[in-house]
Amino acid sequence: MARLVVVSNRVAVPDGKGAGRAGGLEVAIHAAMHNRQGLWYGWSGKVARHGEAIETRTVERDDISYVVSDLSAVDHREYYNGFANRVLWPLLHYRLDLAEFSRRDLSGYMRVNEHFANELDKLLRPDDVIWVHDYHLMPLAKALRDRGHMNRIGYFLHIPCPPPEILTALPNHERLLPMLCQYDLVGFQTGDDAANFGRYLTRECGLHSSDYSYTVGDRIVRLDAFPVGIETESFARTAPRAMRSSFVQNVLGSLAGRAMIIGVDRLDYTKGLNLRLDAYEHFLGAHAAWRSKVTYLQITPTSRSEIPEYAEMARMVSQEAGRINGKYGEADWTPIRYVNRAYSRTALAGLYRGARAGLVTPLRDGMNLVAKEYIAAQNADDPGVLILSRFAGAARECEEALIVNPYDAEAVGNAIARALSMPLAERQERHKALFETLMKNDIRHWAERFIETLTRPPRGAAWPFALAAGVPR
Ligand code: G6P
Repeated sequence: MARLVVVSNRVAVPDGKGAGRAGGLEVAIHAAMHNRQGLWYGWSGKVARHGEAIETRTVERDDISYVVSDLSAVDHREYYNGFANRVLWPLLHYRLDLAEFSRRDLSGYMRVNEHFANELDKLLRPDDVIWVHDYHLMPLAKALRDRGHMNRIGYFLHIPCPPPEILTALPNHERLLPMLCQYDLVGFQTGDDAANFGRYLTRECGLHSSDYSYTVGDRIVRLDAFPVGIETESFARTAPRAMRSSFVQNVLGSLAGRAMIIGVDRLDYTKGLNLRLDAYEHFLGAHAAWRSKVTYLQITPTSRSEIPEYAEMARMVSQEAGRINGKYGEADWTPIRYVNRAYSRTALAGLYRGARAGLVTPLRDGMNLVAKEYIAAQNADDPGVLILSRFAGAARECEEALIVNPYDAEAVGNAIARALSMPLAERQERHKALFETLMKNDIRHWAERFIETLTRPPRGAAWPFALAAGVPR
């Protein structure tokens, strides 16, 4: 079997502590690489100080070589904080109003991709299968092809792909986006995302295809949907044990018999936290019988805090949580517990299981693995209810959740009330259907399908897979 080389900006080098940030990409790739021989390359997470050497290090663990490179302060500013997170991230999440383009950041982005290609050049073997992840690394295949690498190279975008009407607002899009055609396979979370990019290729690059397979020079690039899953079975097995841990028992005990609603999100404007707080306020206002009987725990590790839009958001969310607590709180009841801390996924599994409702209401999200983990963690005999934004990729598969429009705070508030008073039989029925879907399309299935499609010869018989539906059923 050919070696799998994974490349992503973040690399989850095992640190033995198990505590983590809440980024979906690391969680997914880590699970996908489990039991596979391979190499995972990316940024070390370290920014070299002025005058400090920029190093590349290797850690060998469980058949995987983790190879990580530092970034200089300038690279970090222009590539990571700049082009990746102040241009591509808002743009691909439909937030043109927040995109801050500069040509300097674009050249920093290209420079880091060239640097990654140089480092990979030293490591690659001709028969390696290469799988590149996310918006930080769009030009990487081109940089590798320029160095003579003819390997199968796949790309997976973990975040949404908007329609060409938005993509074309990116200055220099015609330089950057067509570079994705240097990959053999470009994967998206949903059929809509893939179709949006297909429309871009047709409209802006004059490429046509009836089966999402495009001929570009002497190469063929395919587009397809691969909705990312979770380790459903093992997460479901972990949750009951995690719920019995002293940490989770302490949290549940501190609720004094009140129902718990849980939200877990990186602090990011795409997660719709302010509107979610508005929805909870509406719930408390319109469903007064629930006051003092419910606690909403919002776990929100801080993220990208050097970026001004994130710092501003952090201020706004904590202000709003404080205001609602002041308005509705009692001496013996705090309506919202707002926590800027990262907990281990095991601890989260226990908390999810202890929560009567899971609130996942992003304004736009590629997939959202918290939604899937919340479902997997439930007790099938007495499950909680997932409230899920229609704008999360997960809503395509999780139709039996309470699907809401996160912009409609009143409707989300009413969905909270409905979730908390939903009869047992309805909760069981919804949970059963959701859980079965997650068992069918788990993380292993996702990784195997991607690699199998990437390594299959072009124009194979049964391709493309379920692009229209985007979901294996
Ligand atoms: C999302 C992105 C990932 C990213 C993660 C955490 O899940 O798709 O690529 O790693 O957020 O963000 P960070 O900027 O901390 O890596």
